[in-house]
Amino acid sequence: MAAPKIVVTRRPPGAAEEMLRAAADVWTWPENRAMPRDELLARAGGADGLYCMLTDRIDAGLLDAAPRLGAVSQMAVGVDNIDVAACTARGIPVGHTPDVLTETTADTAFGLLIAAARRFREGMEDVVEGRWGEWDPMYMVGRDLHGSVLGIVGLGRIGRAVARRAAGFGMRVLYTKRFRDPAAEEELGVEYRSFEGLLAESDHVAVLTSLHAGTRHLVDRAALAAMKPSATLVNASRGPVVDTDALAEALSEGVIAAAGLDVTDPEPLPPDHPLASLPNCFIVPHIGSATVRTRILMAERAAVNLRAALEGNRMPYCINPEVYPA
Ligand code: DGY
Repeated sequence: MAAPKIVVTRRPPGAAEEMLRAAADVWTWPENRAMPRDELLARAGGADGLYCMLTDRIDAGLLDAAPRLGAVSQMAVGVDNIDVAACTARGIPVGHTPDVLTETTADTAFGLLIAAARRFREGMEDVVEGRWGEWDPMYMVGRDLHGSVLGIVGLGRIGRAVARRAAGFGMRVLYTKRFRDPAAEEELGVEYRSFEGLLAESDHVAVLTSLHAGTRHLVDRAALAAMKPSATLVNASRGPVVDTDALAEALSEGVIAAAGLDVTDPEPLPPDHPLASLPNCFIVPHIGSATVRTRILMAERAAVNLRAALEGNRMPYCINPEVYPA
């Protein structure tokens, strides 16, 4: 029997490709940039399995162009670039990479919180631009983390990891999610609030929910206005969960005090975008999970998923397990 054909849309780190080559005929996009759409459509036509990145759009059009496709495996935990319902309708399992990036991403979210609340960007700009004058009692004062209230929007794996860090910093933690989570309340000492209640009570708000139709622009103009004027907003989920224009306006008009962003809408953020020039907006370029070890673990987890599917087994980390018979 001929080996299954796999298309890899960008070279993954670690042993991922080797793991795939042991079981399949693998073609990898050779360039160090996202695969152009027309190339992806053409290559997917002959593929049994697709190993993809969050920069690839896996939609019904692509699935139509890929009649043999039996599995999609993404090297990321978020799958908002994939039309999962369309995959499910065709019986195609979709793999992703939870758990291995949880702690790394929580570190990033917490780093953004500290950087934004304590005005690291403004401080650094003063240093490099020669504005660091003599010590002044109220120069560059920010807002404390310890003794403050952190509101977590989306208490999933990463949200829980951020809550654990917050406890170490002496913060009280509120959370909101679709359903109340008594087990997390018991384990982490977090308190449930409605979205509105959390915005009003929190000194800092961390957005860690996944992106879907129900969370697009969840943090809009009204949500920002409901936060404290001294509040910090962190987004380490997906850019479109926050209305970018509303955020830029809120930060420049003092509706909230600061933001720390790992993700933006659009990405990459053009350097002349209003958010980029705001001194109270600390932005890093979608590097939440970007440590050497974690990216290798993600790449290899995605390979494990795809191999399992092509060998006729259940994907261990599947976002649409309903494709498998009960
Ligand atoms: C993910 O995995 O979804 C991140 O955004 C990239 O690490």
